[in-house]
Amino acid sequence: MSLDSNKMDSSSRPKLYDFHGVAMTDIFTANWENVQNFQARPDDILIATYPKAGTTWVSQILDMLYFGQISPERLKTLPIYERVPFLEMMIPNVVTGTDQADKLPTTPRLIKTHLPVQFVPKSFWEQNCRIIYVARNAKDNMVSYYHFDCMNLVQPAAGDWKSYFQKFMEGKLVFGSWYDHVNGWWKKKQTHSNIHYMFYEDMIEDTGREIDKLCNFVGLSPSVEEKEKVRSEVQFDSMKKNDMANYSTLPVMDFKVSPFMRKGKVGDWKNHFTVAQNEEFEEDYKRKMTDPTLQLRWEI
Ligand code: A3P
Repeated sequence: MSLDSNKMDSSSRPKLYDFHGVAMTDIFTANWENVQNFQARPDDILIATYPKAGTTWVSQILDMLYFGQISPERLKTLPIYERVPFLEMMIPNVVTGTDQADKLPTTPRLIKTHLPVQFVPKSFWEQNCRIIYVARNAKDNMVSYYHFDCMNLVQPAAGDWKSYFQKFMEGKLVFGSWYDHVNGWWKKKQTHSNIHYMFYEDMIEDTGREIDKLCNFVGLSPSVEEKEKVRSEVQFDSMKKNDMANYSTLPVMDFKVSPFMRKGKVGDWKNHFTVAQNEEFEEDYKRKMTDPTLQLRWEI
């Protein structure tokens, strides 16, 4: 696999396969032993999400909060995927997330993962690392993932929207079932105090409030001005223009198909779901989401 988009077409896209009960591709399982044996440090911060739930947004916020003052150059010169390594990612002969994390010079290290909770390397639990989980409502998450799979050449091809809709409900997308992912992490949070479980919709509703909660959780007390600077620079339109946060420097993403920073809205699913799809979805959702304490918002 090459990182050069000119050499890639749909036939070279990775294939989905069953990996211990979760749909995955080689890109995220080929380095499995190193991922499972990864040595977390007590001050590492793990940012965990199902893909397209707002990972980059929270990563950028945390990176700015921690390093915006002490090393502003870092934020201006390194793309987000180098500042916050993607733990389980491996592009053969190019890079592994574990190597990137091992070489990260910062303290704390901010590390990204899309792993379902049962796959998280045990050292993160042994070291009692802080973990930030972001969930996004399933309908918008599906729409965002669909556009991402259309434009990301190292993801299996999305196919048409109708079939994608079914694949999402069946959990046949990379990192498996959205339902299992958000439920699994929610359940873990009930017994593990070092998980901060956030919602994309809350961040859209009041970014400043969610930044405050994040600061409380990680033990940071930035000044009012610093916080305001972070809040304003992570607004969708600013981040979309920021080449160090918008993935425009990554050749495997075809921005002619769709930008990475696409819409950044709650409720875009209404532009994609038919009335019949919505009914089918809701019915299935009720069967799968049986914990009344976990509520996600379709609109705000
Ligand atoms: P959309 O495709 O709906 O626009 P991830 O980082 O987990 O891959 O998530 C990407 C999604 O989060 C995309 O959603 C992207 O636009 C959105 N996003 C990223 N930064 C954002 C921001 N600053 N404000 C709102 N949404 C943001």
